[in-house]
Amino acid sequence: MPNHDVKDRALAPQGKDRILWADRSMPVLTRIRERFETEKPLNGQTLAACLHVTTETANLCRTLKAGGARVLLCASNPLSTQDDVAASLVEDYGVEVYAIKGEGHDTYYEHINAVIDAGPTLTMDDGCDLVSTLHTKRTDKVDGVVGGSEETTTGVIRLRSMEQEKVLRYPIVAVNDAFTKHLFDNRYGTGQSTLDGILRCTNVLLAGSTFVVAGYGQCGRGVAMRARGAGANVIVTEVDPLRGLEAAMDGFRVMPMEEAAAIGTVFLTVTGNLHVLRREHFEKMKDGALVANAGHFNVELDIPALDEIAQSRRTVRPFVEEFRLADGRRIHLLGEGRLINLAAAEGHPASVMDMSFANQALCAEHLVAKAASLEKRVYGVPGEIDEEISRLKLAALGMEIDRLTQEQESYLRSWQQGT
Ligand code: ADE
Repeated sequence: MPNHDVKDRALAPQGKDRILWADRSMPVLTRIRERFETEKPLNGQTLAACLHVTTETANLCRTLKAGGARVLLCASNPLSTQDDVAASLVEDYGVEVYAIKGEGHDTYYEHINAVIDAGPTLTMDDGCDLVSTLHTKRTDKVDGVVGGSEETTTGVIRLRSMEQEKVLRYPIVAVNDAFTKHLFDNRYGTGQSTLDGILRCTNVLLAGSTFVVAGYGQCGRGVAMRARGAGANVIVTEVDPLRGLEAAMDGFRVMPMEEAAAIGTVFLTVTGNLHVLRREHFEKMKDGALVANAGHFNVELDIPALDEIAQSRRTVRPFVEEFRLADGRRIHLLGEGRLINLAAAEGHPASVMDMSFANQALCAEHLVAKAASLEKRVYGVPGEIDEEISRLKLAALGMEIDRLTQEQESYLRSWQQGT
């Protein structure tokens, strides 16, 4: 039995069924796993992963193990772990898992430390908590790491700061920046799973609601698009003029949060920044407002400020906390302000994680093959990996695309032909 700290190993049979269900929608990762089984490109590696412990992550772990790695997994968010999946990974797949849904801050970091104790040669992070712990409190283990990868926008931003300050101690591949990751996972994955999380925990009717999306990056676009599809009146708030303009031309109302606060019925932050919804906004909200976050950290909402202006707070449904203000208005905080798609639902669907995690698996292989020649920098995903994944995914979807004719190829190379 691998070392572990999970909620209940008896949950394993249910977890295994769910993992295999997700696997059916992950054909690209399956192909990589089959190749890894024969080629063993990760032989001898100890891979510490700090990821959301979901069915999709389980299939990634199976792939990494098939490649020959020893795999340790801890959670990248205290509320995103699926306890049945954690149990099955330990019982059925020999992965050393340290993750319990609802774990407190101290346990969260104990679990990160537990995977570091193994002395990883590779890291796989989602939000940079593992890498930052290795670079601050656990420098005893940092020299053994040959490379790492990062899954999400927030983590890549933190890593680029480390690179700029010249404190990064090993090369990192920014998986988030692959086209086959952020154009699909961030947009369609977040778009669907965020609404899924809000709906599962509130059962609110989106048709006719006024849905405020803070942030119009790929994630914000996805949420705004899907909320509109469900009949909501969507307002976008932004700080970037180009993104604000894009949102306007995509047909959304754009205004400062100051104004949106007074008219929204559902609020969703997805900016990657701090205190996007704060006291002055909460004070303006209508009775019954729903407030949620789909950005990596719950700091997008100033929850202490909401607590300060509330006279009482109580849980009214799972993942729904009601804050009652002095004048009787009620504001509802969903999923403790943590990633609502993972806290109250199951995260992005497997079909989209197929591409994200295909990138992760291929980047782990790339890091091992190229470790000696890489510098202590943040690298993009090699273009060949991105292209290979889009080709495989398209084929798995049963779709073919056209090829350039020879005439078209030479036309594209020529500059003489005009009107
Ligand atoms: N991030 C968002 N959705 C996810 C999922 N289903 N598995 C792992 N990480 C995720």
